[in-house]
Amino acid sequence: MQPDTSAAPSASKRAVVRVLDGERLFPPPIWMMRQAGRYLPEYRATRAEAGGFLDLCYTPKFAVEVTLQPIRRYGFDAAILFSDILVVPHALGQEVWFAEGEGPRLTPVDLDRLDALDPTRLLDRLAPVLDAVAGIRAALPPETTLLGFCGAPWTVATYMIAGRGTPDQGPARKAALLQPEGLRRLMDMLVDASVRYLVAQLQAGADAVQIFDTWAGALDDEGFEAYAVDPVARIVAGVRAAVPGARIIGFPKGASARLPDYVRRTQVTAAGIDWQTPVAFVRDHVQPLVPVQGNLDPLRLIAGGDALDRGVDHVLNGLGGGPLIFNLGHGITPDASPDAVARMVDRVRGATEGRARP
Ligand code: CP3
Repeated sequence: MQPDTSAAPSASKRAVVRVLDGERLFPPPIWMMRQAGRYLPEYRATRAEAGGFLDLCYTPKFAVEVTLQPIRRYGFDAAILFSDILVVPHALGQEVWFAEGEGPRLTPVDLDRLDALDPTRLLDRLAPVLDAVAGIRAALPPETTLLGFCGAPWTVATYMIAGRGTPDQGPARKAALLQPEGLRRLMDMLVDASVRYLVAQLQAGADAVQIFDTWAGALDDEGFEAYAVDPVARIVAGVRAAVPGARIIGFPKGASARLPDYVRRTQVTAAGIDWQTPVAFVRDHVQPLVPVQGNLDPLRLIAGGDALDRGVDHVLNGLGGGPLIFNLGHGITPDASPDAVARMVDRVRGATEGRARP
């Protein structure tokens, strides 16, 4: 029997955890996807010291440091483990590297030769990441929620198959149609790896975990069911079999009108919402089912000023009447302004009930 880390008494008082448990808090708690990143000068300094991006991810001292940087600067209500979704294929034995300024590169997998990957050493190879989780928890203020994460099998598979990011995930979508058996076996491997990895993160001290499905929106109806809904439903069930009550945020970017179905079928605890999804739709059709997290357009943090304020108010007015974790609709970009982030945090924290209740 595994310890139920999600039920630790101190954890249940953390604001992000309270909202995940269904409470409405106003002002809502706030954190940002990619909050540790290149828009921060202190991140760029640590990254230069670490050498490569993967060295940053696999050296607990550096991973802990960059995770804490945005907490120190802005006092966010949640910290997210600093790592990357592509450490899983890397730990399965695929070659992964980050070319400066070009994004991730992988040696594409051959779906007919998946035995070239070795799932047996996964958690050994990810041990430094799990050490970082424990180190982050020990260093965080007690009121700050700690989030772990993984990539959803579909999104991870799109990189494993194409060997890089592509505009429309054509290579993986083609594989779904031309090599369905190979893709199914890859999905099974990633479901199993994700369950073991997320359970290990929860046991190392994460209060909740988020499953990033950045490319869910590239799929048609049949593909969405097979590759975005089904694998995530199996991960949720698998994680909760080991950690009862585990809190899991699903972020199926681009799911839009499919969100209510995704939520019901996967049984995620909460839904991350991208900025393209209408706030009124989320309020009427998603928030009645689960707490929501989102969904400011990250580019408003480049603009700042009134454009930023309008975006913040639109989210608060539309979603502040129910359980909400304020966040962006996708990761913050390297050209965002650190001052605009401070302005966003102040505006959310200074929000008053009246303004957010229509
Ligand atoms: O949110 C956080 O602060 C936690 C850390 C985190 C990173 N990547 C750090 C990172 C998380 C949760 C991710 C998830 C991730 N990684 C996703 C899913 C979410 C999303 O943003 O869509 C995806 C698709 C990846 C794969 C990936 N890693 C890409 C496409 C890139 C290059 C894009 C870019 O911004 O350069 C990365 C690199 C990466 N991951 C960086 C960071 C801070 C930038 C690397 C650098 O410092 O040079």
